[in-house]
Amino acid sequence: MHYYVNENIRDTYRVFPPQGRYGALRYDMNENPEGLPKEFVDSVLKEITPEFLSIYPEPDRFLNKYAAFLGHGVTYDNLTATNGSDMAIRYLLETFGEKGKDVVTVSPSFEMYWVNCSILGLHHVPVAYEKDLTISIDKILDAITENTRIVVLLNPNNPVGNVYTEEELEKVIAKTREVGAVVIIDEAYHYFYDKTFLDYALREDNVIVLRTFSKLMSLAACRLGIVISNPEIIHYVKNGRLTFDTNSIALLFAERLIEQPEIVEELIRQEKEGKAWFLEELEKRGYWTKDCMGNFVFVKPRHDAHEVAARLEKEKNILTHPYGNELLKEYIRVSVGSKQAMKIFLDAFLEIDGE
Ligand SMILES: Cc1ncc(COP(=O)(O)O)c(C=O)c1O
Repeated sequence: MHYYVNENIRDTYRVFPPQGRYGALRYDMNENPEGLPKEFVDSVLKEITPEFLSIYPEPDRFLNKYAAFLGHGVTYDNLTATNGSDMAIRYLLETFGEKGKDVVTVSPSFEMYWVNCSILGLHHVPVAYEKDLTISIDKILDAITENTRIVVLLNPNNPVGNVYTEEELEKVIAKTREVGAVVIIDEAYHYFYDKTFLDYALREDNVIVLRTFSKLMSLAACRLGIVISNPEIIHYVKNGRLTFDTNSIALLFAERLIEQPEIVEELIRQEKEGKAWFLEELEKRGYWTKDCMGNFVFVKPRHDAHEVAARLEKEKNILTHPYGNELLKEYIRVSVGSKQAMKIFLDAFLEIDGE
């Protein structure tokens, strides 16, 4: 039988995340290895009644509270919630991308940017890292041309944790404005890295910030991302979106969480303590490490990185992220959590990699 298949979708090669991770010690996907306090989760679950489940999602109450939570003068008109920032990326590339025209990102970066380019028929322009894991802002600027419709900066980038200065961002904004493009600043790892470019998203006409509740907020299962920009850009994104793609359970958990900023503060404190402790312990033992500025670090094992990752999984039920590409093949990426979570990891890692 012959039927039509969109050729961009047909020709995109996808590798989906591994399954069966429940019960494993998860340091592979930049989640919180431990999750939110159980009392908090239990208290929110009590609110999920048959009536609650029977009603279509209503994001506005959460969005109004979230605007106040963010500060910086953010209002309801500056926001829209999406089914994970994953979905926000799709919406933004659909809305501001043009078939055959360029989307500039660094490489390597979060894969959903190139995946969506491929699916939507946008031309991905990857700007490569240097061998020393730095990225040249001049190369990014050079990649922005009359054909560019979107420039993506992850601040910090995943997996290579570089960050951008205000001066660098301002140069990118100026160049994108010149060529009629928008800048997406993905702040998935905000809170692990304190600086934000939120003010640019509110002030400029072509800047968009993305946030997620999957990382510090520890709600990856719920799927909640946020697009923050000026009201005109938000209007376009809403026009293109699905009506009910953000579910009520995600909105409820997020609303209750931001109502208790002490829980958020404690998550920040624990993660910072855990990361600092972990890096120090490794460095004491002579390991090369890189603080990737998010809730993840690179560690260079003494033995082959793929072998170490495979043995951690097989012998210790511990998941990490090794890399196939030339630039990162010597490292494993390890998600960080509390000091307790990092102690468990370190003990197992040292047993396998030897002291
Ligand atoms: C930079 C970046 N953006 C977006 C995402 C997607 O997050 P989510 O769809 O869970 O909000 C990730 C996930 O790892 C990420 O690293």
